[in-house]
Amino acid sequence: MPIDRKPEFFKGAQLKVGIIGCGYVGLPLALRFAEAGHKVTGFDTDPAKVSLLNSGKSYIEHIRQDKIQQFVNSRHFNATTDFERLKDVDAIVICVPTPLDERRDPDLSYVEQTAISIQPNLQRGQLVVLESTTYPGTTEELVLPILEKSGLRCPIAAGIASDNIPTDFFLAFSPEREDPGNKQYGLAQIPKVVGGTNPPSARAAQALYAQVVAKVVPVSSTRAAEMAKLLENIFRCVNIALVNELKLLASRMNIDIWEVIDAAATKPFGFMPFYPGPGLGGHCIPVDPFYLSWKAREYDFAARFIELAGEINTSMPGYVVQRTAAALNDEGKALKGSKIAVLGVAYKKDVDDPRESPAFTILEMLQKNGAVVSYNDPHIPTLPRMRHHPSLRLDSTPLTPEFLARQDCVLIVTDHSAFDYDAIVGHAKLVVDTRNATKKLGVKANVVKL
Ligand SMILES: NC(=O)c1ccc[n+]([C@@H]2O[C@H](COP(=O)([O-])OP(=O)(O)OC[C@H]3O[C@@H](n4cnc5c(N)ncnc54)[C@H](O)[C@@H]3O)[C@@H](O)[C@H]2O)c1
Repeated sequence: MPIDRKPEFFKGAQLKVGIIGCGYVGLPLALRFAEAGHKVTGFDTDPAKVSLLNSGKSYIEHIRQDKIQQFVNSRHFNATTDFERLKDVDAIVICVPTPLDERRDPDLSYVEQTAISIQPNLQRGQLVVLESTTYPGTTEELVLPILEKSGLRCPIAAGIASDNIPTDFFLAFSPEREDPGNKQYGLAQIPKVVGGTNPPSARAAQALYAQVVAKVVPVSSTRAAEMAKLLENIFRCVNIALVNELKLLASRMNIDIWEVIDAAATKPFGFMPFYPGPGLGGHCIPVDPFYLSWKAREYDFAARFIELAGEINTSMPGYVVQRTAAALNDEGKALKGSKIAVLGVAYKKDVDDPRESPAFTILEMLQKNGAVVSYNDPHIPTLPRMRHHPSLRLDSTPLTPEFLARQDCVLIVTDHSAFDYDAIVGHAKLVVDTRNATKKLGVKANVVKL
């Protein structure tokens, strides 16, 4: 008997939830649904991940193994590569990657492929939610037409007049706001924006998420929900570019930008501190804004803030290399032949995610200039193969006093808490600090703060 699912159905207990893409976003979400008592199946194209999950193992540092094991044991969570099993679930949540391609245009092939995998298995009354970050229009223009090839319909509609519009399945967009490693805000505490293709779809998705997050924030359409996520990330990208540019100016004016930001941040209203760095990293901030600037072209619109911020942020690794060369020059050394150890290759503090990390560009630039490079990252023992940096093949070198003393320069790119900055500055001849990580040590003759 086919299940007759109305939007209110998704308020129910023990729903069957399928999460497609068990990565940094999908896996925590799957575990959250399991924790709330639902029966969760994780779908992934990577058989290695599926087999690790089914044996209760984690491949993401901050996701606890015992949690996965607990839900596998209680049969609230299992994983599969068999997409036919999508037929059996009530709700399908898509958390697959949305990177940029070689030409830095949106690469929606993962989302498209996922929609193609769902289509032959789509059932009447199922709820499908896209969570992958993308440009406004993706859910309606890309996912919906593929799903409707099943013969089932989900009309695009808004407003009170369409409150009870007939729909064969429900389709919504709800952006993920995961901040890996953030101990203050986990998934359950972060409000979730939800937009439906039509009002019943919106209600179904709201009912589903209300079970696992503290607050659901409804918006009028999938496009508004898609744009909300991009606004959040563009806000960060532009503000980081602003402080990065001000850092370059402050440096010429012999002003410490870090001191300036700390001072400005004492204003209790109308200011939010952003910090300069060696360049943007992570799967979101360096990538997502360009989804919107790409889409803007369709409307004959140049998204200038996004392009300018991108230009400034992508120039930062070059600036770091140039300042490192200048610091070595002050010691009477050339970049060529100098031993340089990069500390931290993850894109941000205390995570094991190297995606888009500026450390890779910096390492490569240093290497091209003849430096003898090495790195240490307690979270990344071996550099993974990166699409844009295929020639970088290194293992993390232990930070012994002897190793530090042998280096001509130690370059802090990511300020992991595990680093003993006192010992690093104590043993190294020269330290270039791109993160103000050595702040607590005060002014040191061998530290150049960028
Ligand atoms: N990582 C974050 O902090 C973060 C935060 C907010 C939003 N997002 C967005 O969430 C989405 C997912 O990002 P992520 O960081 O979880 O990526 P990820 O690479 O960690 O995980 C994606 C998973 O999807 C799997 N996959 C790829 N193609 C598939 C397919 N066709 N079918 C099934 N599985 C497939 C991969 O094997 C992988 O396990 C992206 O759109 C990203 O922009 C990420």
